[in-house]
Amino acid sequence: MDVLLTQEQIAERVKVIGAQITEDYKDQSIVLIGVLKGAAIFLSDLARSIKVDNTFDFVAVSSYGRARVSSGAVKLIKDIDNPIEGKHVILVEDILDTGLTLSYLRGLMLQHKPASLKIATCLDKPDRRLVPIEADYACFKIPNRFVIGYGMDYAERYRGVPDIRIFPDNPQGH
Ligand code: IMP
Ligand code: MG
Repeated sequence: MDVLLTQEQIAERVKVIGAQITEDYKDQSIVLIGVLKGAAIFLSDLARSIKVDNTFDFVAVSSYGRARVSSGAVKLIKDIDNPIEGKHVILVEDILDTGLTLSYLRGLMLQHKPASLKIATCLDKPDRRLVPIEADYACFKIPNRFVIGYGMDYAERYRGVPDIRIFPDNPQGH
């Protein structure tokens, strides 16, 4: 599979985004809420590049399953463990694609009345958007190609691939 983004390119951008978040939140505490499972690796790298006090939480939503196109239906499978009322929250996602997942999660999180809510995503595919939503922090904008690695999967595989690769349209032997 062709490499779209190398480990070095990813590490460099995550550091920059981490520094930006550090600057934006200065002496505040933040809660990073990762969207399982795709965002787990990005969150672990991002958290280590953020120099303000931070805690983690995770949510899980129904995924694409084995299909590569969204059914449009998003369902919460795992909610946050700790209250976020009055806290500064950053939702951390692997890819902002159609936007359905993050608009759903943003609406849900806002019901908990956080002091603020922002979105950080590793990848952004702006051409694919079905609902209007933008990330406050995005490492890379990418074209409309299906990718795997750095936490992202195809049918649960390839999450451990350390760089980000383009999954072929007509996979043979995958
Ligand atoms: P959205 O609701 O369409 O924005 O979907 C975002 C979710 O779809 C991400 O959290 C990913 O899990 C998944 N997704 C979208 N594009 C890709 C891709 O290219 N590779 C792997 N997963 C993807
Ligand atoms: Mg995902």
